[in-house]
Amino acid sequence: MVINRKIDIFISILGADLSNVERAVKLCEESAVDAIHVDVMDGHFVPQITFGNKFLSDLKKITKLPTDVHLMVNNPDRFINDYLKAGADAISFHIEADIHVNKTLNSIKEGGAKAGICIIPSTPVAALSEIIDIVDFVQVMTVNPGFAGQKIIHSSIKKIGELDALRKSRNLSFKISVDGGVNNQTSGEIIKQGADILITASAFFNAPDPKKEAMIIRNNGA
Ligand code: DX5
Ligand code: ZN
Repeated sequence: MVINRKIDIFISILGADLSNVERAVKLCEESAVDAIHVDVMDGHFVPQITFGNKFLSDLKKITKLPTDVHLMVNNPDRFINDYLKAGADAISFHIEADIHVNKTLNSIKEGGAKAGICIIPSTPVAALSEIIDIVDFVQVMTVNPGFAGQKIIHSSIKKIGELDALRKSRNLSFKISVDGGVNNQTSGEIIKQGADILITASAFFNAPDPKKEAMIIRNNGA
């Protein structure tokens, strides 16, 4: 199968050894990945607590790689301005965690960042119907958010194909990103279904040769 679109690889910094963020960022740069994915968790929407906006603004000081902020927080509208100010290039949040979804998406776009909507494995593509024409990207979670290193939920992969069909039928150009359990075994099917952006943490950072792992993930399915 020939894939004639560019596949982007984003690395989730959550999978790095956080005692040396600079080394992890360097590894991302040397591996020619396309962005750093920052998993923000609030201890409510998901069980863990992770990165605040200060982490993001400090990260921006040490790299020119774009940053993709994934808000796994309740009422994400409260945090949009903070992460915009900290320099986020893209911000996504969960449709399950927000009430006025159009408004939140528009405030991200007005702030100059790409706006994405995320769905957990139990949320169907149909839930996106009323906002799909204003998103820059849809992020399909192929694990239940909250932790790196989980096994992919195979039944979620079909939603990528559903989204690809939806964008074709409505003549839209949003990107499809996929987050959770992406590795050199799973990326082929994910790409085949129509994904544009593959996000990975553990497969990259735990690989004996992360640069090679990123290359295999990107080129699988080609
Ligand atoms: C999960 C996070 C993911 C996670 C991916 O809650 O949103 O971005 O870091 O980790 P892996 O690639 O290990 O599944
Ligand atoms: Zn994520």
